[in-house]
Amino acid sequence: MPIPGPVDSIESLLAEDDRPAPAGRPWVAANMVGSVDGAFARDGRSGGLSSEADRAVFRALRACADVVLVAAGTARTERYRRPVEAGGTRARLAVVSGSLEVPEDQPFLTGAGPDPILYHPSSSDPARLPAGLEPRVAGSDRVELPLVLSDLHADGARMVLCEGGPGLLGQLVACSALDELFVTVSPTLVGGDQVGLVGHGGPYDHGLGLHRVLREDDMLFLTYRSPREPA
Ligand SMILES: NC(=O)c1ccc[n+]([C@@H]2O[C@H](COP(=O)([O-])OP(=O)(O)OC[C@H]3O[C@@H](n4cnc5c(N)ncnc54)[C@H](OP(=O)(O)O)[C@@H]3O)[C@@H](O)[C@H]2O)c1
Repeated sequence: MPIPGPVDSIESLLAEDDRPAPAGRPWVAANMVGSVDGAFARDGRSGGLSSEADRAVFRALRACADVVLVAAGTARTERYRRPVEAGGTRARLAVVSGSLEVPEDQPFLTGAGPDPILYHPSSSDPARLPAGLEPRVAGSDRVELPLVLSDLHADGARMVLCEGGPGLLGQLVACSALDELFVTVSPTLVGGDQVGLVGHGGPYDHGLGLHRVLREDDMLFLTYRSPREPA
């Protein structure tokens, strides 16, 4: 079970991978860090599971993406900024929300780069949203991810990078729209109730093929790809 030798540049390695966009939507990758027992957060945040190498992968993936897609809960908890402000990428942020609860001091409301897109269902009224967002309807009672992906495709996006949270990742799995999954396995056991990298929907029967294994010290970096339906 060989693991490749030292990688000169994680940016080049990830950027050189082929990611052919399927018909009608962008290529969809997701990036998550988890403990060995599948916890997605420690003390409510993912940072406690991360490392410098994991942050390097996080940045390298963002550099490949046209859009960073995130659920509103994660954007609020992790105090999301515009990806261009966070460095190393031209990607635009897209946030999925039903409540349209965006704190006035949410960092992504200001800064360089285009205003983030805020996908919401038609049942919620964007009139009370703060400035600094571009609201778009995608669904009636809740946001439907296939509508989000076809809308981003119409914008010209070729790669969307989902950064969670787990519930949003589960929704991508549920609609068979996950092409590539990056999982950093953090060498720790956490337990508790913040366990389950794809949330608590399902059960799903979504097979994956192992595309790459990297490691740094005790941390593993796994890349999986979803098998393509025969054309
Ligand atoms: N380990 C990792 O890599 C990683 C990555 C990301 C997040 N996390 C962690 O995950 C936790 C947050 O996860 P979470 O499950 O609590 O929240 P979440 O999945 O990030 O966000 C849930 C919220 O997203 C919105 N949402 C999701 N799907 C929607 C849909 N189809 N339609 C409308 N709105 C939708 C809703 O926002 P509204 O409430 O605005 O309606 C919902 O309350 C945090 O602890 C964070 O640190 C870990």
